[in-house]
Parts: sequence; C-alpha cells; structure tokens
Amino acid sequence: MGKLEQQFPEVYEICRQFALDEGAMRKIVRAMTHEICMGLAKETHSSASIKCFETCVQDFPTGNERGKYLALDLGGSNFRVLLVNLISARQIDVVSKTYGISKAIMEGPGIKLFDFLAESIAQFCKEHKIENDNLPLGFTFSFPCKHIGIDQGILVTWTKGFKSEGVVNKNVVEMLREAISRRGDFKVDIVAILNDTTGTLMSCAFQNQNCKIGMILGTGTNACYVEKTSNVEMFPSYQTSTKPHMIINCEWGAFGENGELDFVRTSYDKAVDRESLYPTKQVFEKCISGKYMGELVRHIMVDLMDKGVLFKEATAQILREREKFDTRFLNGIESDKPGEIRNACKVMDKLGVRGTSEEDLLCLRHICQAISTRSAQLAACGLVSLIKKTKVKDIAVGIDGSVYCSHPHYHRLLMENMKLLLKGSAKFELNLSKDGSGRGAALTAAVYTRHPPTPPQDLPSKKQSSSSLLNAPAPASLPTVRRFIQKVFWTFRHF
Ligand code: BGC
Repeated sequence: MGKLEQQFPEVYEICRQFALDEGAMRKIVRAMTHEICMGLAKETHSSASIKCFETCVQDFPTGNERGKYLALDLGGSNFRVLLVNLISARQIDVVSKTYGISKAIMEGPGIKLFDFLAESIAQFCKEHKIENDNLPLGFTFSFPCKHIGIDQGILVTWTKGFKSEGVVNKNVVEMLREAISRRGDFKVDIVAILNDTTGTLMSCAFQNQNCKIGMILGTGTNACYVEKTSNVEMFPSYQTSTKPHMIINCEWGAFGENGELDFVRTSYDKAVDRESLYPTKQVFEKCISGKYMGELVRHIMVDLMDKGVLFKEATAQILREREKFDTRFLNGIESDKPGEIRNACKVMDKLGVRGTSEEDLLCLRHICQAISTRSAQLAACGLVSLIKKTKVKDIAVGIDGSVYCSHPHYHRLLMENMKLLLKGSAKFELNLSKDGSGRGAALTAAVYTRHPPTPPQDLPSKKQSSSSLLNAPAPASLPTVRRFIQKVFWTFRHF
C-alpha cells in the first residue's frame, strides 16, 4: 500500500468503485452485443437500448471523389459551416466558420434554431460568394435520427445540451429547407443528413478501405459500423436491396437504459444522472463522455470535501457549482508525470481554488485517472462488441472527438483494453479521423450527390481557419473528357 493510499483510504476506496476487471468488461461486451442484435431485429428493436438505426448510407468513398461541397455540423454548442474542396485523395481543402449557439436557442423553439442555422449558412455563403451555386450539401446532425432516406432524418430524441422544442419526431432536413426558403437569399442542395460517427467512418474510409467502424468520443459518444443490409430488418428493403452493406448508427450512448450497467454504476454516476437534462437516459454516455467526465470528478471531490478528507484548508466552494470542473482539466492533470502536480496546480489556480495541499492534488489526479480509465475501458468494450459483430479479422476504426483527441493516455488505454478483450482474435488499428463531421459530411454528399462534381478549383479564400490536409500540389483542372466520363459514372451510380 502506498503512502498516499494509507493517508487517504477514502479516496482509494471511491476510485476502486470505478475499476473494471476483465470479467466485468466481458460481461459488458456480451450485453452490448445482445442489445445491438436486438436493435437490428424488427421484433425487438423497440425495447433495445442500442437502437442500431439504419443510415441509408450504402455507398462508400472510392478515393476518387472530387469537387466542392458544403458541410454543416450541428452537435455541440457550436454550429459549423464548411466549404470543402476535394482536390485529390491526398488533398482536401477546408474553409470553415463556427457560429456559437446560445443556450436560449438550444433550449428554445425549434423554428428559432433552424432560422439561426439558415442565417449562419446565408452569412457564410455570402462571404464566399457561393449563394447562387446550389452546392451539394452534407448535414452532420449528431443526434439519434430515424432515416427514411439519405436526405430525410426524423429526430428521435435530443441528447447532450439540446432541448429545442417542436423538433422531436420531425424531419430535420425539411425544417432546415423551410428555414432556408423563408429567407430565400441563397441556394444549396441538401443531399445527405448523417450522424457524426457516419462522417467519421466515411472520412476514414476515404483513405483506408479497411475502415468499417466510426466512433466519437467527445461531448457525447456513439459509434457506427458497416452491417450486411440483409441483417438490417428495420430498413424496409433489407431483403431486396441490391447494395450488400449499410452503415448502422448504433446510438450506443443509450446503452444501460435497460439496467445493463447497474452493476458498475456508482452513487456518483447516479448523482450526475439526476442533475442532467435527461435523467435515466444516455446511461453509457454519462459514464464515459466529455460532457460528464468532469462532472463525475467534481461530484467525487465535493463528497470528499463534505467528509472532511480533501481541501481542508482550501477555498474550494467553487467546486460545488455544476459543470465548474471541465473535462478538459483532466487532460492537463493527467499530463503531469507521476508524482508531479504542476498542471493540477494550474487548474486549481484557474478555478480560483486556493490553499490546496500537494496531497490534495495527488488525490485529485488519482480520481481523474480512475474516471478516464473507466471511460476508455467502457469504450473498448463497445468497440470490441462491434468488431466481433462485423466478424472482420483485419479492421480499422476511425475515431474523432475531443476526449479521444486531447486526453494524453486515452488512445493507449483503449488499445490496451481492446487487446486484452480481443486476445488476438482480430487485428485492428485505431485511426484518428480528424474532423470526420466536416470532411465526412462533404464526402457523403460527394458519394450521394445528384450533380456531377465541379472541377477542382482554388477556394475563394484560404485565410480564415483554412486547413489543408497533406499539402500535395493541387492537380491541374480535369480535362473535359475525364469530366464527362466522371459525370456518366456518377449518373450511372446514383440513378
Ligand atoms: C448522440 C449521437 C452522437 C454522439 C456524439 C450523442 O449524444 O446521441 O448521435 O453521435 O452524441 O456526438
């Protein structure tokens, strides 16, 4: 037993409640696999906690997609509009702008939300002088949706911080189209609506044909994977479709709503749930994603303060405020070398907590580690159940999201736990699929566009938040003959 453990047994006892052994993880993999199968089947779909929604995405990038597309990304507290130029398989130019969404809009009438989206797109199109171009558009809408077509999505429920009224059970593409026509000052062609996990998979698959799973670990969490169409019983033409595969949006954040995680949930998980916008919903998400990890740490700290264990001499009342302890703080705190507390000190300074002892901060670090380790272990369980479900023996997973991208040990923890669970039964790689929501939406629009792609050209302005992935020199304009062949190919593929 270490010195700190002897000195603070209460802290170690709480952290032990978050520890998952191999047996517990295997039990979770089995339960997730079960819920996935229930979600796919017509008879059991309604009672499954992992709904496995069909996405209608049955075509995948070939790497030859080219041209200019608009992408929209709605899923967090920001709305992004992107102009994506697919120049070559190695060069994708992106110009984007982020529009902050106020709490009033996130929780107010739906019509206001869609008017806000339309206004932001109008501004963006005017700035880039594309308001009359009727560009094909992919809409990343990162909430559970029932698809009734590639460009038709019915919102099943809001998650994360959204509660906009009058949108649940509505076709969100129709709502956006109506908002756009109310303004009438720009033209776009909404080709596809997709989940951010689908975008991540598509974006990864553009460069890696082995990519069959997309995962997001950010504010929320979710995954999608490629399933045989004949298994997607909720898809009306699952027995007759000529396309062999379809991406399934699992919506695994809701796993646990049938009580499957009751044996791992702690009193702190329950406290976070009680204070959330949707008590009893998104149970898995509340155990692992960025919106809640900081809250879990905060609840533990407050409990230990109440018990007189931590921050005895400190002014730590601020920690009693909801959402005061941002999940991003875990990244810094866990970046410190073992036994060091430099970043933990900085975080506490930033929060205005004074008078903490070195031991307080070492305990805080231990708590953060317990939360992020459990998060990665649960995400590993999810990925392993999907890898097993696909039965693919050599698979790539595209991943995006702030937790995965910014946490110093998350990738390693995922790898270690997946290896432990898979025991060599499948080869896998985890690929960072940066900005899957933006690039993936453009790629999906490209795959499903009803227009031949426009010839690659330079974007109007590369100054503002422009990122060029792998800066290979831009190819010359496509010769007319090649463009014609491409047009015939697209037409053949999509009609
Ligand atoms: C949503 C998913 C989304 C995930 C990651 C969850 O809250 O329900 O649709 O993919 O967050 O953004």
